[in-house]
Amino acid sequence: MYNLAMKNIFLPLLFCFALITGGYAGDAKNAVTKAAAAPAGAPLYKNPLLPPEKRARDLLSRMTLEEKFGQLQQLDGDADGPFRKEHLELARAGQLGSTLNVRFAKYVNPLQEEAVKNSRLGIPILFAFDVIHGFRTIFPMPLGEAAQWDPPMAEKAASVAAAEAYAAGLKWTFAPMMDIARDPRWGRIAEGAGEDTYLGSALAAARVRGFQGADYGAPGKVMACAKHWVGYGAAEGGRDYNSTDISEPSLLNTYYPPFKAAVDAGVATFMSAFNSLNGVPTSANGNTLTKVLRGDWKFSGFVVSDYTAVQELINHGLAADGSDAAVKALSAGVDMEMVSTLYRDKGPAALAAGKITRKTLDASVLRVLEAKFRAGVFEHPYIDPKLEETAFLTPESRELERAAALESLVLLKNDGGLLPLNPAAGKIAVIGALAGSKLDMMGSWSGDGRADDQVTLLEAVKETAAPGTAVTFSAGCPVKTGGTDEEMDAAVAAAAGADYIIAAAGESADMSGEAASRASISLPGRQLELLARLKKTGKPVVIVLFNGRPLDLSGLDADFPAILEAWYPGTEGARAVAQVLFGKGNPGGKLPVTFPRSVGQIPTYYNHRSPGRPADPANRYTSKYQDLTVEPLYPFGYGLSYSSFSLSGLSVSPAKIMPDGSVKARVTVENVSAIAGDEVVQLYIRDVAGSETRPVRELKGFKRVTLAPGEKRTLEFELRPAELGYYYAGGFAVEPGLFKVYAATSSAGGLEASFEVTAK
Ligand code: BGC
Repeated sequence: MYNLAMKNIFLPLLFCFALITGGYAGDAKNAVTKAAAAPAGAPLYKNPLLPPEKRARDLLSRMTLEEKFGQLQQLDGDADGPFRKEHLELARAGQLGSTLNVRFAKYVNPLQEEAVKNSRLGIPILFAFDVIHGFRTIFPMPLGEAAQWDPPMAEKAASVAAAEAYAAGLKWTFAPMMDIARDPRWGRIAEGAGEDTYLGSALAAARVRGFQGADYGAPGKVMACAKHWVGYGAAEGGRDYNSTDISEPSLLNTYYPPFKAAVDAGVATFMSAFNSLNGVPTSANGNTLTKVLRGDWKFSGFVVSDYTAVQELINHGLAADGSDAAVKALSAGVDMEMVSTLYRDKGPAALAAGKITRKTLDASVLRVLEAKFRAGVFEHPYIDPKLEETAFLTPESRELERAAALESLVLLKNDGGLLPLNPAAGKIAVIGALAGSKLDMMGSWSGDGRADDQVTLLEAVKETAAPGTAVTFSAGCPVKTGGTDEEMDAAVAAAAGADYIIAAAGESADMSGEAASRASISLPGRQLELLARLKKTGKPVVIVLFNGRPLDLSGLDADFPAILEAWYPGTEGARAVAQVLFGKGNPGGKLPVTFPRSVGQIPTYYNHRSPGRPADPANRYTSKYQDLTVEPLYPFGYGLSYSSFSLSGLSVSPAKIMPDGSVKARVTVENVSAIAGDEVVQLYIRDVAGSETRPVRELKGFKRVTLAPGEKRTLEFELRPAELGYYYAGGFAVEPGLFKVYAATSSAGGLEASFEVTAK
């Protein structure tokens, strides 16, 4: 890992808050002492010395029915921050629980003032926003962040994102997204941690910690939201918003665990999803929302629906009309309704008709109020406008972003050591529209990121290449569609005169993310044609990919010597790419998701179960395709480096344990090259035979280490019942039998050892 003194980023930021806000941003105790001096005889809920539960109950007892339903309403502002006129009226009436997208002091404070000063009870509004991978400093897209295999780095990025969001008056983000996704056609695969439950759980927890810190009521922190509960990533056909059918074992072992990790990390809120799950939409699913989440997991925060998901219960065919939708969502456990207004419009009559109980309503209102007390918005409803002058896009946040981007880069191919480029290269042709695009460096869901703040690959190459290098640029063709033969000819001519060609290829940022599913995962537009012509020049071509999903790269892999996966690397990310291209940085990221050879192989995920007839090229009657291997192009966990590493000496002890015991696996990793670099050592298990079949491999540990040339390190991994067991019809258990253990640098191959679990 790259040695940055990241601590230095946060302390000055918080110090700034404290100075500017004159104690407002000071420690919580300070705030409490001041507020405690409030006039005697004030209602209990105004006393910050009392616990949030008690304050919430007191406040609830004073509320009208309309005010209660109003607290369960979240409404949308305008995309660039303003509130709408209707919000002022609702705030004054005490009927606006929360907004999304309203941000910045100039919009937050006047609207908040209506709620706090001019409503009957003075309940403040919770201001929320999608801060998915940064607010103003844009970090690598979440799938790229997952490629770092470095949860502490993700935690730091979320912490910077929280500090920036807070400075814009926000106290709640709709992140992290923790949907396991195995289908690259689904555009939202970009927003999560990829296909693996173990990696996804580690990142879910890290991101929650980064956003919330130890106390989300503290200055510079925001409430996180675990989304989308649940199974949204399994959309049939990879088509966004589509239905899902997921077996109970898969829910328990694959889809739930990242959410459970978020609960264990103290996540404040959940978002119910758009999809129906086994016939019951997740925004009215009593089993997932109440039995599992609140019953089994004891989650005590509140649940917000996804955007108009309550209204959509009608389209799903679960609710007959708006009233039915409100009744079903609220009764199932969705506390707050995002954007549609059925709770507010239909709730009171449904209550009068006995379709919603007062107990259900009050429980939801209490959860929302308690979160508001915990978030500190009663004591600190406003944001100091001066914060905006200092908090965004600081030199330190840029530095962290560059380091984060560097860690996220995955070297897919480097034949003949083409990379890093010879610094003495006289002429470099940078080709491809993406190389000149600022907007596309951010990826989808880019918070309040501004295109102008981003560095392009072309700019970064010019900055980083040795002095005197001639760098030319030609787009060749647009990313998605169109383009002329003349533009293409010009690019090829420019390339033909260069010593090296750096070709930026991939998808534009809007091709992944929400509502951005694709039926093809090939390079769009005329890019393949352009690349083929570049190859014909005979000049060495390095491909840099910018994309939000695994792409079908089989043609590129066959034809080009060097491919670097850059995802959407964020504000400073192109500089990290240039560092790697010129050998000033060493790539060490690993794929958090399998890259198939073709869309026809989907789903391809490494932790599949074994069929009774595993693929065997020599036997027709095995599980395979007639026209393509079942092996993916690049497996999960794969990635190259300029260094070479070797693994040796895998040992597991003890050789036998009881089901409640644990084993230690040790393996030595050595940098056998002359270049310092990072390796991600991955530990997988296979539970060889069980009451239910288990995956052929499951990730159960990983460590990213930086090793100097020749350096050796022995790593230890502990496998406890939590790692060895699984959920099956009978509950959670570690079953007796043989376990294989693999230490590897990707999900394929590696060293193997085993141990046995014996019956009690
Ligand atoms: C998305 C959520 C997002 C919400 C608010 C929805 O369309 O599915 O992920 O948080 O909008 O912007």
